[in-house]
Amino acid sequence: MLEFDGLHKSFGHHRVLDGVGFTVAPGTMFGFCGSNGAGKTTTMRIAMGLARPDAGEVRWRGRPLDQALRRRIGYMPEERGLYPKMKVGEQVAYFARLHGLDAGAAARATGEWVERLGLGARRTDPVEKLSLGNQQRVQLAAALVSRPEVLILDEPFSGLDPVGVDSLADALLSQVRGGVPVVFSSHQLDLVERLCDSVGILAGGRMVATGTVDELRRREAGRLLRVVVPDAPPHWAADVPGVRVVSEQGGDTLLELKAETDDQTVLAAALATGRVTHFAWQQPSLVELFREAVAAPSATDVAA
Ligand SMILES: Nc1ncnc2c1ncn2[C@@H]1O[C@H](COP(=O)(O)OP(=O)(O)OP(=O)(O)O)[C@@H](O)[C@H]1O
Ligand SMILES: [Mg+2]
Repeated sequence: MLEFDGLHKSFGHHRVLDGVGFTVAPGTMFGFCGSNGAGKTTTMRIAMGLARPDAGEVRWRGRPLDQALRRRIGYMPEERGLYPKMKVGEQVAYFARLHGLDAGAAARATGEWVERLGLGARRTDPVEKLSLGNQQRVQLAAALVSRPEVLILDEPFSGLDPVGVDSLADALLSQVRGGVPVVFSSHQLDLVERLCDSVGILAGGRMVATGTVDELRRREAGRLLRVVVPDAPPHWAADVPGVRVVSEQGGDTLLELKAETDDQTVLAAALATGRVTHFAWQQPSLVELFREAVAAPSATDVAA
């Protein structure tokens, strides 16, 4: 297990992390979400020894991370740390050597990752000549080249085009299949929802929601009902007891039901207005779950 345990961190009077904890099992992908300034980068920097926590620790396989263990972690910092004048291949090989690979292994691993991330044609170009997205791929190759046991990636998908997103996603999934725990931060929640086994939402210095997307959904389940009655008169649902109209567009209505409201009563009310063509519980997207969790952290706190 990769365990983030009870992390506290303040900068001056500004408390950023207030007991952040989550675990990532080997062979799983964890999506680390939170608004700008929530403390995701700070959490990852603490894991990498680049910021000191006021309390708490990060452990890998039960051992608190030290510099030796950190050499086995592939890390992609938020502020990208490439040498602009160095050639792509040299750069990646340099990171491999830094993590302890010998020259031959570094060259082989560099060749493999440069190809896999679609940089083969750019291998001898200086990094500064590459576009932002391609520089990002070099940074990823640098994180992956040393065959890390753990991956901690700060917004690895930002700035990538859809093909770049797919090649990175494939690369990460193959690491996961090989048993590596992967943590990445992202604001691209559709991507997090698609790729991650579990997600964590950081707000107000704490993890306000952690679990699989399905688990987070289940907490919201049974609340939103979508009813489509093409010929219904406007505001048909306004007077149904125990129901709040969330949105209404033509005959397409999204309703929030109180816990005690019987959905069959709503169905009967809908049928009374015309032919019902759609009647189903609405699955909230991760974006909706995120909005809810960030808006009311204490109400959705399951992390404690
Ligand atoms: N070295 C520092 N000195 C003072 N304040 C800092 C420092 N590093 C981070 N902070 C503050 O800590 C808070 C959390 O920042 P952090 O970069 O961890 O957020 P984040 O979740 O990564 O945000 P983003 O999504 O924008 O990347 C911010 O208010 C930031 O200004
Ligand atoms: Mg950040």
